[in-house]
Amino acid sequence: MTTNLTWHQSQVSKAERAQLKHQRPCVIWFTGLSGAGKSTLANALECALHARGRHSYLLDGDNVRHGLNRDLGFSDADRVENIRRIAEVAKLFVDAGLIVMTAFISPFRADRQLARDLVAAGEFIEVHVATPLAVCEERDPKGLYRKARAGQIPNFTGIDSAYEEPLAPELVVDTAANDLAGCVELVLAYLERRGII
Ligand code: ADX
Repeated sequence: MTTNLTWHQSQVSKAERAQLKHQRPCVIWFTGLSGAGKSTLANALECALHARGRHSYLLDGDNVRHGLNRDLGFSDADRVENIRRIAEVAKLFVDAGLIVMTAFISPFRADRQLARDLVAAGEFIEVHVATPLAVCEERDPKGLYRKARAGQIPNFTGIDSAYEEPLAPELVVDTAANDLAGCVELVLAYLERRGII
């Protein structure tokens, strides 16, 4: 697959791109159940970063599945490929000097580890949006849990497909215990502590 290919080193480096933007690029990887609040939190965080003059990009599960990953479903194999592609795209955006946020269930530890291993040490910030299943199911913003319980969506995460909780995430936020602004503050405070913003 990768025969007869040569890696071309670009003349402008990642560090130079980042320097022009006055920031340290990184991946803020949100993981959690459907309905946990990943997209909402990532969106609100991006607004806060933008207001601070930070250059960012948000990769969101449902959106990416409309384009780049429209050929993928929700079997274990397709989820693995979904996350592999996102991880590679996130790496490219970090190379471009951006603060990239990803909002995917990303249910498997091994795949999140793969995403972590693609970027430099300290550049991967795993945020477990640890909203309990019962709360996600109660919220059911897209009506998907109801359908899954009725047997209309096979392999639904948390129902009949596994979610492997992170063992050592950089951050855990519980959207049932904090309001949106409070969750954003938690992430911003972490980024400040780490000297990223
Ligand atoms: S992942 O498991 O491959 O990381 P991803 O975050 O891209 O999932 O997509 C999850 C979104 O797809 C959910 O928020 C939901 O809207 C929708 N969805 C449709 N079918 C399923 C399913 N079987 N399991 C989980 N989410 C599903």
